[in-house]
Order: sequence, then structure tokens, then C-alpha cells
Amino acid sequence: MALNLIFLGPPGAGKGTQADRFAQAKGIPKISTGDILRGAVAAGSELGLRAKAIMDAGNLVSDEIMIGIVKERLDRPDVSAGFILDGFPRTVAQAEALDGIMAGRSPLIIVDIQVPDAELVRRLTSRLICRGCGANAPEGLLAGSPEAASARCGKCGGEFGQRADDNETVVLERLKVYQRNTKPLVDYYQSRPSFCAIDGAQAPAQVAAKIEAAVDAAAAAGLPGGTGR
Ligand code: AP5
Repeated sequence: MALNLIFLGPPGAGKGTQADRFAQAKGIPKISTGDILRGAVAAGSELGLRAKAIMDAGNLVSDEIMIGIVKERLDRPDVSAGFILDGFPRTVAQAEALDGIMAGRSPLIIVDIQVPDAELVRRLTSRLICRGCGANAPEGLLAGSPEAASARCGKCGGEFGQRADDNETVVLERLKVYQRNTKPLVDYYQSRPSFCAIDGAQAPAQVAAKIEAAVDAAAAAGLPGGTGR
């Protein structure tokens, strides 16, 4: 059975951090809609031009565009053993469309990572990412620290900087958008036997261990439906 996962949670909950670890451990692709959009912005494509102002303001790109991107991505052969969606779905309309895309495939396992708002603001306003490949800086390397200016990315050698949407004003807007548009997905999914609630306010290794145990239990429970993709 394919391991088809969604990582849900507010901005800064650690979806990307945990999805990277889990994807590597299981040998399945992480599909981050935020990364796809930032790639389009960097490439100056038509999608990027449309998405940049929306992302910089902390708002959501339209359901129609996002559903089209994910539908196309999940049609590629590299998802045959499974995938992790990071940052999608973000609205009930996206979740409903995803259920349609999943028809005939192994059922979704939903991992919802929750962290208190004050910690989310702290994490995001101090986060550094690589300007070259977009990876998060190593744990402990924070914006404004003396070592940040000379540090280089271990993956591509790039410099570190802050994401355009990681200033406090935009972070607070992203949290409002999360409460309004994405938090309702907890209600949408939580009655499913494959819903896993994870306390994300712990060290990354502890969060990873909790996710691994919850996903293993959900997968072993032999979830109903789906035919293996
Ligand atoms: P996206 O890139 O998805 O941003 P986000 O959801 O705001 O999530 P983040 O990447 O900020 O946080 P994360 O939960 O992945 O945390 P991370 O692991 O990086 O989306 C950006 C924008 O794109 C959206 O605002 C929207 O405009 C658009 N968009 C994307 N998808 C869309 C969709 N489906 N529909 C419409 N629009 C869409 O960790 C954060 C920091 O905390 C890092 O520094 C990390 O090192 C640190 N950290 C992680 N875990 C821990 C821990 N346990 N303890 C301490 N620090 C930790």
C-alpha cells in the first residue's frame, strides 16, 4: 500500500522540517506547494509573477491554481510508493478536490502538527533559509545572529537570508489566514481513522519520533479503501 500523507499545521509548525526527514526516511517525495510557488517566483514564470504579491502579503493563492498544480504533480510516476503533501490542502475546497484526486488510490494519512502561536511567531521571525536552494538553515542559526552573515548552506554553499513573508506583520497575517481558511480542515479530517494529532512544541527529533509512531500505527491499522497507488 502506498504511503500517502498530508502534513497539516499552521505556518512555522515544522511541516517542512518534518516532511523532509520523513520523506528521506521512507524514500518518497515531499511535495511542498510553498516551495513550488517560490520556485516559480525565482524563475519569473507567469505563475510566479501572479503568486509573488499574494505570498508576500501572507494571503493564499487561488484554489483553482493550487489544485491544478497538485493534480498535475500527483499524476507523475514518482508518487507510486507514496508522497507527503506539505502546505496542501489549505482550504476546504482544496481538501475536497484532493479527495477526488485520491479516488482509487491508497487512503490519505493526515498528520496535524500543532504549536502555540507565540512559538510560531518566534520560529518564523528568526528563521533563515538558503538563498540558493531554499533549505532551512541548521537548527540554532538564527536571523540577526553574528554567525549568520558568514554561514553557508551545507547543501549548495548558498548564503542565508530571511523569507520575504517572515517579518512579524506578515507572520501575524499568515496566522489569521490559517485560522480562517486552514484550521477548518482539522474538523474536515479528524473523524477519519487516519487522522494523527501531533504536539509540535517539542524538539524536532521528538516530534519526528511521534510522527513515525503515529503514521506506522495508522498504516498498520489497514485503512479502508484505495487500491494501492
Ligand atoms: P508555505 O511555504 O507552505 O509556508 P507556511 O505554511 O507558512 O509554512 P512554513 O514553511 O512557514 O512553516 P513550516 O510549518 O513548514 O515550518 P518549518 O519546518 O519551515 O507557504 C508560503 C505561502 O505560499 C503561503 O503563505 C501562500 O501564500 C502560498 N501557498 C502555499 N501553499 C498554498 C496552498 N495550498 N494554497 C494557497 N496558497 C498557498 O519550520 C519553521 C522554523 O522553525 C524553521 O526555522 C525550523 O528550523 C524551526 N523548527 C521546526 N521545527 C522546530 C521545532 N520542533 N522546535 C524548534 N524549531 C523548529
